[in-house]
Amino acid sequence: MPRVPYKCAGFVDPVHLVSSRSAADKSLPPWRLRKIPRMQLFPRALNKLGLVLAVVPNVVLVVIVFLFWYYASPKNLQVGYAPLQPVAYSHRLHAGELGIDCRYCHANIERSAHAMIPATQTCMGCHSLVKTESPKLKVIRDSWKTGEPVEWVKVHKLPEHAYFNHSAHLAAGVGCSTCHGRIDQMDIVRLDKPISMGWCLECHRDPTKNLRPTDQITNMNWQPDMAPAGWQPPKVNPPTNCSGCHR
Ligand code: HEC
Ligand code: HEC
Ligand code: HEC
Ligand code: HEC
Ligand code: HEC
Repeated sequence: MPRVPYKCAGFVDPVHLVSSRSAADKSLPPWRLRKIPRMQLFPRALNKLGLVLAVVPNVVLVVIVFLFWYYASPKNLQVGYAPLQPVAYSHRLHAGELGIDCRYCHANIERSAHAMIPATQTCMGCHSLVKTESPKLKVIRDSWKTGEPVEWVKVHKLPEHAYFNHSAHLAAGVGCSTCHGRIDQMDIVRLDKPISMGWCLECHRDPTKNLRPTDQITNMNWQPDMAPAGWQPPKVNPPTNCSGCHR
């Protein structure tokens, strides 16, 4: 029987395929010949494309998660992190002993997402009169003269992909000490809570016990039993869905 020439690489005639076995094929049993040649439309390397398409997104995902983990776990999220500051400014002295309210220095906090670190001017309001010659305040005086801001080292720092807003929490009645601990007893600010997703969610799932009257948010001595008789915590609904915090 004459061998039918294939019209193109992909042309398959099952009948002739079986009957036109080449010499090498003859050694194979007929069922091994059932393998019908595939059309070679694309270069051979592209046959792996399907595999690549299936694997690449997973690899990318693993890399992204790893990068998050790597960059999101710096010291700024770990309990105990307490970097040295350019000035030996003490919260224990100013917020504790002198009793200056947090909002005197972190002024905008009830209206914005971020708390600002006070400008040199805020310090000079007192320190142009108090301890004017103190060597501990030289950096502040220099900054005042040159106009160059003091380079305070950030203690808390969430990764970019997580959204946090102070004003929303303060308006609901979550106090500074609930998240930052006894700042008024710290000479050097130290991370008091693990600023992790689990920590945020723990409160978001059951926030009520962490709420207090909004005129008490900066009270560092606050205890739940100090709530005035008849005070009811407001109804709140913090997000627990991913897009609530990852926008
Ligand atoms: C006299 C001004 C002043 C007062 C009052 C004050 N702070 Fe600060 N605060 C600062 C300065 C300056 C820094 C930056 C240097 C540092 O971290 O110690 C700072 C830093 C912080 C930080 C760390 C910021 C970061 O980098 O993550 C927290 C948290 C904080 N203050 C909370 C409070 C709380 C809570 C109160 C009230 C109990 C308070 N502060 C009162 C001046 C003040
Ligand atoms: C409301 C007034 C007030 C403000 C605002 C204020 N301080 Fe003070 N600070 C004081 C007083 C009062 C003392 C001295 C307490 C004492 O007698 O030991 C002091 C002491 C200090 C000392 C210790 C000085 C020494 O020689 O012992 C440093 C450092 C200091 N302040 C830094 C700052 C910085 C930085 C800021 C701004 C972020 C600031 N203070 C804002 C009132 C203030
Ligand atoms: C619900 C928890 C929570 C409460 C309540 C809270 N903070 Fe914060 N605070 C944070 C977190 C989280 C960060 C880190 C934010 C970031 O890196 O974006 C932070 C950061 C800060 C910073 C550094 C500047 C900034 O905004 O990144 C200061 C200063 C600060 N807080 C002061 C305060 C003061 C003062 C109060 C009370 C009036 C307060 N916080 C209440 C959780 C809280
Ligand atoms: C101690 C309790 C507590 C902790 C800790 C806490 N939250 Fe909240 N969160 C609340 C409450 C209460 C609200 C207000 C909900 C309302 O007003 O209905 C809120 C609201 C929010 C909102 C919605 C308000 C807005 O600005 O859109 C976001 C986003 C949010 N929290 C993010 C975070 C993140 C991120 C963390 C951790 C870094 C965190 N929260 C830690 C209690 C907490
Ligand atoms: C209440 C706020 C909040 C909610 C809701 C939330 N996250 Fe997060 N998430 C955070 C914060 C804050 C961080 C950064 C803290 C850290 O990296 O430890 C974070 C970090 C992450 C990271 C980085 C990996 C890591 O552990 O650091 C991934 C991935 C992530 N979140 C995914 C999700 C997914 C998926 C959901 C929904 C099921 C979700 N998040 C819901 C606050 C939240």
